Amino acid sequence: MAYGGNIVEEIKSRCNIVDVIGRTVVLKKTGLNHKGICPFHNEKTPSFIVSEERQHFTCYGCGATGDVIEFVQRYHNLDFFGAVEKLAAEYGIDLEKSGYAGEGKKERLYEINREAAAYFYQKFIEGKNPARDYMEKRGFSTSTLRKFGIGYADAEWHSLYEYLTGKGIEKEQLLALGLVSESKGKIYDKYRNRVMFPIINTRGKVIGFGGRALGDDNPKYLNSQESAVFLKKNNLYGLNLSRQEINKQDQAILVEGYVDVMSLYHHGVRNVAASLGTALTENQASMLRRYTNNIVLAYDADSAGQAATLRGMDILYRAGCKVKVLSLTEGKDPDEFIKKNGREAFLELVVKAKPFAEYKLDLLHQKSDLGNTEGRVRYLKEAAAVLKALSPIEADAYVRKIAEETRISEGAIRQEVFGKEAREGQELRTRKMPEKSAAVAVGCLGSPIERNLIKLMLLKSEYVPRLKPYTEVFKDPACHNIYEIIRALYREDEEIDTRRVFDSLREEEIATLKDIMENVQLADKDSLVFEDCIRQLRSDACNRRISEIIEMLSVLDEETDGTAVVTLTRELQELQREKTGEKKNELRY
Ligand code: CTP
Ligand code: MN
Repeated sequence: MAYGGNIVEEIKSRCNIVDVIGRTVVLKKTGLNHKGICPFHNEKTPSFIVSEERQHFTCYGCGATGDVIEFVQRYHNLDFFGAVEKLAAEYGIDLEKSGYAGEGKKERLYEINREAAAYFYQKFIEGKNPARDYMEKRGFSTSTLRKFGIGYADAEWHSLYEYLTGKGIEKEQLLALGLVSESKGKIYDKYRNRVMFPIINTRGKVIGFGGRALGDDNPKYLNSQESAVFLKKNNLYGLNLSRQEINKQDQAILVEGYVDVMSLYHHGVRNVAASLGTALTENQASMLRRYTNNIVLAYDADSAGQAATLRGMDILYRAGCKVKVLSLTEGKDPDEFIKKNGREAFLELVVKAKPFAEYKLDLLHQKSDLGNTEGRVRYLKEAAAVLKALSPIEADAYVRKIAEETRISEGAIRQEVFGKEAREGQELRTRKMPEKSAAVAVGCLGSPIERNLIKLMLLKSEYVPRLKPYTEVFKDPACHNIYEIIRALYREDEEIDTRRVFDSLREEEIATLKDIMENVQLADKDSLVFEDCIRQLRSDACNRRISEIIEMLSVLDEETDGTAVVTLTRELQELQREKTGEKKNELRY
């Protein structure tokens, strides 16, 4: 294995389980132990016990149990390696020094990956095979295929395993790299009947693979698991081939997928790299910064792509990049577009890409109703929030535009943007991202309420329509997508087929849903839990509306917007009464 044996001991002795868990769960000392509300299932009275002496946790409600590493794995949805890394980073433990996959060991793992890549490549070029047919049908020339080292994993269960062990490579290393899997004591090749995309870092090392299904197999892409040499968040696909061109053109085009990179490259657009379908990370942003500041986001033209664009551009902006967003006028992704319309048309889109603030403002504009006071004020507030993140000069350029659109005075807008909060916003921008967003990037498992609701909808589909007014609750990206899929599959009077939900999900989302299905235990009858959730959501919505109204009243002018001020004030009073439970009993009238 790639892990030094003593690293686990080192982590356990340095990271006190009570401190680690205490950061996310409120713990109360009771006798020798600490007690709290279990984060892994829904409960009202604490049955989650942490023993400092044994450095161990146990939940008597749901049976969850383990050590500090297992807690972090479960809570943050990480594999063992990811949890070790996270704890080591937080407690300043130097993994390399602790003998944890030192460079020598890493070199060996890179070599094994290279052997595997060469094997897949050989299979791909040596004659007719389904992978080559498939890629040729998709329009790739032999030279592009060779450039990217595309390979073929055949449909056999042991061909790679036998080939590599025949060369003296140990099974443990193949397991650590995720090239083979083990089930019930039997080893088998993990990639079968797939087109293989080797992922190569900027030092030319093969760090992992993506394997695309040839038919409708699930998942569509199977990616290497995280290992000592493959940390997804630290790499961009294609950068090994494109970094010089990115440097030369002083611009990088960022796309979602393997095929997008290859396709743009094939058509002569060579300053391109892919974030591989996951949320862009800070690490990836700073990697790009080594070659350029100018990033053009060219994600898929669907809602997932739009969400990834919004998240990605904030991360890039914070890393100091100038971000533009390319919008595809045709086709679902850059691959489709360039195949259909060619290089020149694509480059035109690059030229027309919108600066990120403009992109955000346009999106806001689209979803706002500027026909009424409330819509205009809400748009102004949200637009001001976008501008706050910009430098004053950048922001000022948009103030007039917003004033015209909303018919609210430029002065009031400036006040909103450059007031006291504006300065705080500026500081925020230069500060490092809060730790939480890192957890989101790796894929956390959603809040208890999101998890409960997903479980409930899969239990009884009648909850799906009842949840419609509250869809904002799904903030975790994986939970959000799971919800979208459930909603798409919903049919009146039919239960949702959970397998079909799984089939439509990506790897990280599969992990989240699996975890929800296995670990969420409803604390009560499902209808009661559902009502509990709705009550909670209503109260959240009520609080949000209250602060929204207070905000609106702060910019409205009583003379020009008199009626709106009166209506809003009345609504505010109503909400505040509801909240404090002072709502007058009807009998008293
Ligand atoms: N992805 C993944 N696992 C999946 C689906 C997607 O890891 N089950 C990642 C892959 O890196 C993929 C990227 O997300 O390249 C974009 O996904 P998608 O748009 O679905 O795939 P395309 O790149 O368009 O692939 P293709 O054209 O082969 O369908
Ligand atoms: Mn795509």
